[in-house]
Amino acid sequence: SSGSQSGKSSLEHGTCKSEVWLPQTTLSTLQNMRDAARMAGGSQKLMDQRARGKLTARERVELLLDEGSFEEFDMLKLGRGGHLGREREYLGDGVITGHGMIDGREVFLYSQDFTVVGGSLGEAHSEKICKIMDQAVRVGAPFIGLNDSGGARIQEGVDALAAYGQIFNRNVMASGVVPQISCIMGPCAGGAVYSPSMTDFTFMVDKSSFMFVTGPNVVKTVIHKDISFEELGGAHSHATKSGVAHFIVPNDILCLREVRRLINYLPSNNRLKPPILDLRDPLDRTDPALDYLVPTSPNQPYDMRILINSILDGAEFLEVHAHFARNLIVGFGRLGGETIGLVANQPAVLAGVLDNNASVKGARFVRFCDAFNIPLICLVDVPGFMPGPEQEHGGIIRHGAKLLYAFIEATVPRITVIVRKAYGGAYIVMNSKHIGSDVNYAWPTAEIAVLGPRGAAEVIYRKEIETASDPAAALLEKEEVYRTTFANPFLAAKRGYIDDVIFPSETRKRLIRSLQFLEGKESTRPTRKHGNIPL
Ligand code: HXC
Repeated sequence: SSGSQSGKSSLEHGTCKSEVWLPQTTLSTLQNMRDAARMAGGSQKLMDQRARGKLTARERVELLLDEGSFEEFDMLKLGRGGHLGREREYLGDGVITGHGMIDGREVFLYSQDFTVVGGSLGEAHSEKICKIMDQAVRVGAPFIGLNDSGGARIQEGVDALAAYGQIFNRNVMASGVVPQISCIMGPCAGGAVYSPSMTDFTFMVDKSSFMFVTGPNVVKTVIHKDISFEELGGAHSHATKSGVAHFIVPNDILCLREVRRLINYLPSNNRLKPPILDLRDPLDRTDPALDYLVPTSPNQPYDMRILINSILDGAEFLEVHAHFARNLIVGFGRLGGETIGLVANQPAVLAGVLDNNASVKGARFVRFCDAFNIPLICLVDVPGFMPGPEQEHGGIIRHGAKLLYAFIEATVPRITVIVRKAYGGAYIVMNSKHIGSDVNYAWPTAEIAVLGPRGAAEVIYRKEIETASDPAAALLEKEEVYRTTFANPFLAAKRGYIDDVIFPSETRKRLIRSLQFLEGKESTRPTRKHGNIPL
């Protein structure tokens, strides 16, 4: 019975042997079992978890969800752990699963418990996660994973690998159906990284999380290089270098708060539109300062964030991938209460040029927005694609094509504002009229042409410049001729490629009016299994 000596000691350690829990239907038995499950790996391990600056798995769930909204599934499911020959069984099997609300909307989630066998993933653990993934897809609610795990549970052998396979399958099936969000709040190594990386957004907690396929020990053995956990797979590395982390957050509490913030921009599933949130920002608000944003010298940078903050409702912008490929800004905001996905060149970083990382970053964001009915707003100031062998050999042709493909494929409302430079292929790629954008505006400062003035003047006036008495002065003069003739918005406006040249101060108003009329946009694509985006 549960009153036996063995029952008492297992309860203390948060574990139990299955025979202890043979049919007992009293309320106190249920309470004891729940208490045992809540004790997880025992008080010492819970203290260890806190000592590392981490919240416990249950605290994370409570903080993420609206107060009192969590409903747990499978708290009493039994999993296997311990050492070979000294197997132990765990109530709940090292993962908490269920559903609850974020600002009144249902989400499904799991939270791995590192205090139970290192949060490692075995058969029962995976079955619990798969059950709520299936529920999330069935009812059309977002799915959030809080990861803190040593990976496949070694004692369960190939069953643990099979268990991962079951989750991977569901990640792919849910992709584009419900938003999937991963938080890395501890270790995440080996093949385990592939579940988060197939979800839509990955948050990493600075200093307490890491992700890698092969850890520092294997790196040392195989390529004889010393590298720390942090440098190889810490949040900073993934937020700035690999792009694996969309968000880096300083601690667990802020991580969970940012997830709530992100969810607020998203629809619950691909059949719905995102929730409308009225921030009481007037729809016709103008900003005269924007008329002076673009510097008179074309080579002088400015911060595109000034424009972004100016036009969005309440200047609220949730930037995605803020530290990766900073020459392109992507993120969510609201216009007239409606969620929009914003893609903007950043002239303050590398002059806003498109390179490999920026192209991939933009393409993935555009595809997410399209999958979840989020209109796209594109702010353009792009001198072109980044030249050089590093970029060419790194695949700028393939990667640039991804961004092009993603925009063309997108059927959501698409609006572009050309602020300054829009040259050559990059002009076309950045959601131009020619690739199906719905509304295209330009500021009077826009320069829309095949090449920048210097490059163009060097080609088309080469002979005149070479034979001039002062070639340098001749080049400057020809640049100016080119700029006034070609590098302006008016040729494109005359051809109808630009729907209107607008006053910068009125940008917000014009965007909101366009979004309003595009509300009913319908656009179809040919029937096919799937397109073949150049990966
Ligand atoms: C079983 C595990 C475990 C695992 C940790 N534990 N990882 N048990 N399977 N994968 C247990 C430990 O034995 C220990 O148990 C407890 O969890 C806490 O672990 P510690 O090592 O004490 O913690 P820490 O020092 O913080 O180190 C954390 C760690 C380390 C870096 C994650 O535990 C580690 O390297 N674990 C192995 C990681 C790994 O190689 N996993 C397989 C990855 S491959 P006790 O009883 O002592 O408290 C993979 C394949 C997926 O996941 C394939 C998908 C197709």
